[in-house]
Amino acid sequence: MNPFPKREAWRHLPRDSARELYFETLHAAVKEFYLDDPSNPYQQSGRSKGAERWEETRRCFVQAIDRSGDFLDVGCANGLFLESIMKWAGEVGFVLRPYGLDFVAELVELARKRFPEHKDSFFIANAFDWQPERQFDFVRTSLEYVPEQDWTEFVRRQYATVAPGGRLIVSHYRNAADPVVDVAKVVQDAGYVLSGRTEAPGVVAVWTDVAIVERWTPAAPPHGTGTFDT
Ligand SMILES: C[S@@+](CC[C@H](N)C(=O)[O-])C[C@H]1O[C@@H](n2cnc3c(N)ncnc32)[C@H](O)[C@@H]1O
Repeated sequence: MNPFPKREAWRHLPRDSARELYFETLHAAVKEFYLDDPSNPYQQSGRSKGAERWEETRRCFVQAIDRSGDFLDVGCANGLFLESIMKWAGEVGFVLRPYGLDFVAELVELARKRFPEHKDSFFIANAFDWQPERQFDFVRTSLEYVPEQDWTEFVRRQYATVAPGGRLIVSHYRNAADPVVDVAKVVQDAGYVLSGRTEAPGVVAVWTDVAIVERWTPAAPPHGTGTFDT
């Protein structure tokens, strides 16, 4: 008997299913599989294969880190990815402050326990509807969190959560049997210019930068030099 029938149901769910059914099936599958083995932090982040495979499929994200700042992991699970990216970014001289969001409350609880000093920086919400009260320097998210027909809208909403001068990192995780998704095209079709790309087995991620909007202040009207406030 399959020990994870809800995960099986999720795997067979058409990726263009209606939004409510999609979220309900995905939420149930994550709860069933991620919380099944409390002794396995990798499984609590969706991977059961251990440290080596974890690093092989996650370290590539450090290529997107070009400075210190606040890092929001959308779909943070138990916070293991945040802990890892903070360590890998630290090795190249950058300090990241952790923020996380997940729609499975039990996983957010585990992430808060991992970061007791930052427990107020973790939120329980569906990423598609979430309206944060602030913006972040880095936002990492993944397309499979929403049905395919919502990808464009989702990327635009996630872009709005990035601070001026910050970076949106959009990934797609797939199992061997899943079709390859052209993440770059999805982000470009949403209207954004790519500034980087990385990949690892089963993972593709691209990123796009949010401009620092400059405000024109006329110092010597009508035709003076003026200044830009940033
Ligand atoms: C594969 S894990 C990612 C863990 C970690 N961020 C990483 O990159 O390794 C996906 C997580 O996203 C969460 N998730 C999926 N869809 C979501 C949604 N619509 N809103 C919020 N969280 C979602 C799941 O609950 C799960 O914990």
